[in-house]
Parts: sequence; structure tokens; C-alpha cells
Amino acid sequence: MQKSPDGKPFYNSMMPIYPLLAQQCVDDYRLEQGICLDIGTGNGYLGLEIAKITNMSIYFIDIETEAIDFARRTVAEADIDNQVSFLEVDICKGLPLPDNFADFIISRGSLWFWEDKLKGLTEVYRVLKIGGIALIGGGLGRYVPWTMRERLTGERTNNVQKKGGKRLNLEEMQALAIESGIPSFRVIQDAPGDKGIWIEIQKHR
Ligand SMILES: C[S@@+](CC[C@H](N)C(=O)[O-])C[C@H]1O[C@@H](n2cnc3c(N)ncnc32)[C@H](O)[C@@H]1O
Repeated sequence: MQKSPDGKPFYNSMMPIYPLLAQQCVDDYRLEQGICLDIGTGNGYLGLEIAKITNMSIYFIDIETEAIDFARRTVAEADIDNQVSFLEVDICKGLPLPDNFADFIISRGSLWFWEDKLKGLTEVYRVLKIGGIALIGGGLGRYVPWTMRERLTGERTNNVQKKGGKRLNLEEMQALAIESGIPSFRVIQDAPGDKGIWIEIQKHR
């Protein structure tokens, strides 16, 4: 169990959503092996949960040193066998990774903070393998029970704004994806009317 700076066990009310969202990704995209990037990984929980149920090599990527340190601890305590890498980098300034590199890219709750969202999305598309999938956006995923969804949605209201980000609505996500010039994408919602919105990017030959 990770500890907060005052030494008390760390509790995060969002914890239950990470295994559910990881399972959703594995089910939707048949993830088994290859390379997975978790961009804006924060605490590292989502990348870790994907690691636990696949043989994927996971890249934990974040702009913040503290986030990368946290993600390292998360992974160290989990005792997984997957290959892991940690990159402290701003997605908007470019990733130190080659073209057509990743089989799956997930980024949850980070896009709202990207200073140059178009550059960030272009970078995601560049490093995505042909035949790969990227899921960029934010939300709880589809597998969260509605009771928990209601509670957590209430709790996280304005969290993004407080931290200096701006959550995009369905129309804004659509407009952003079109403006990015990415040729193959769809904008999807966790549930009708839900705040959970994602750009699902596919890369074809
Ligand atoms: C709200 S947290 C989400 C963390 C995690 N993905 C989750 O679902 O719990 C957003 C994360 O995105 C990171 N971030 C913000 N801007 C970024 C950028 N330009 N490049 C990489 N990471 C970024 C932040 O440092 C933070 O850790």
C-alpha cells in the first residue's frame, strides 16, 4: 500500500476504475502483447492494470517528475513481469520514440492539460503502429456500475479546472480531432450524455 507524504496509507476513490478501464481496453482491442504507452500516466495505475492482464511492454509517460516517481513506486510494489519504461517528457514537445512504435496508446485525463493539443495528437498518431489503436480523452469507462459512476462523477466535478485544465465536450473533441488532420478516428462517449469522452484513433496503411 502506497503511503502519502505524512506516512498514512494512501486512499484514492478512483482506484476501482483502473482495472475496469484496463479490462475494457483489453476486451475492445484484444490487447495481448506488444507495446503500450500510457501518456500522462500520473500515478501509473492504468498502465499497471493493463500490464497485469496482458504481456504488453508498458511505457509510463508524464511531464511531471513527481508523477514518474509515483508511477515507478506503483510498478515496483506490484511485482509484475512485464517490461516497463518510464519517460519524463511533454507529449506536446515530442516523444523520444520512433514512428510506428506502439500497438496501443492510452491517455486518460491528460489531454485537458496539453498546451498544444494538436501537436500532442499528431505525436500520438506518429508513434502509433499501423493497425494500432489510441484512446485519448477522459472518463471512467463503460464497465463502472452506474451507482459508482454517479458518486465519482459528483466527486470529480471541477477537479480538472482546479488543476488548470479544461475538459472538452463532445463537439469540441470532434472539432479537435478534425483539426488535427488524423485521417481515421471516432469520438466515443462512455454512456449517452456522460462526461467521459474519448478520441479513438486508428492507423491504417
Ligand atoms: C489528471 S492526471 C491523470 C493521471 C492518470 N492518467 C489517471 O487516469 O489517473 C493528468 C496527468 O497528465 C500529465 N500531463 C499533463 N500535461 C502533460 C503533457 N503535456 N505531457 C505529458 N503528460 C502530461 C500530468 O502531469 C498528470 O500526471
